[in-house]
Amino acid sequence: MKFDIITIFPNIFSGFLSESLLSKAIRKKLITVKIHYLRDWTEDKHQTVDGKPYGGGPGLVFKVEPIFKAVTALKSKVKSNKSKVILFSPRGKKFNNELAKKWSKLDQLIFICGRYEGVDERVAKYVADEVISIGDYVLNGGEVAAMAVIESVSRQLPNFMHDADSASKDDHAQYTKPEVFGIKGNVLRGKGKKQKTKILRVPKVLLSGNHKKIDEWRKGNSN
Ligand code: ADE
Repeated sequence: MKFDIITIFPNIFSGFLSESLLSKAIRKKLITVKIHYLRDWTEDKHQTVDGKPYGGGPGLVFKVEPIFKAVTALKSKVKSNKSKVILFSPRGKKFNNELAKKWSKLDQLIFICGRYEGVDERVAKYVADEVISIGDYVLNGGEVAAMAVIESVSRQLPNFMHDADSASKDDHAQYTKPEVFGIKGNVLRGKGKKQKTKILRVPKVLLSGNHKKIDEWRKGNSN
């Protein structure tokens, strides 16, 4: 699985790719992530990637030519038709785990990280296969969206997680030691300033060793 990211802020990705499970997956060659600097596909000496919007208005709009050139070059490097080009935009279709599962079967995902002010609409219409939003809020650009999608797609790959079913973990309430936690103070949610010591216990059923009951409890305390 190869992720090709087209961005004008390549450094945003360095910490993200060098930590934890993702860096391990890269080392194990389970995934390849390549960051591409959009300005490398410009031809003028200022490496211009944007321009004023036709019809007037504030901000600058990403030009179609460098993006088109970048996508064409990156597509030609992977000899597979299991490839998709994604443009990130808050106006796009909402991303979810179903899409993450579907995309984890692909060989290549090319991500175009636009900026919020805009990308020439011909990119959405003719270059990208899909326009994707990660939520109903506005980010400065597509870079954070690309990171979220890389992580959720990678989690769906066999061998990414330590154990087979953990891609879907954290879907029910969990506890760990200590079994009893006593606290004093006013940091507890919804409590007034004066407060007595409060004892917070792990639900008894989880300590019971009765797996049938534990499974039932988990079902009732899941997302
Ligand atoms: N760019 C700006 N906001 C975004 C969002 N919510 N999702 C994807 N790309 C974006």
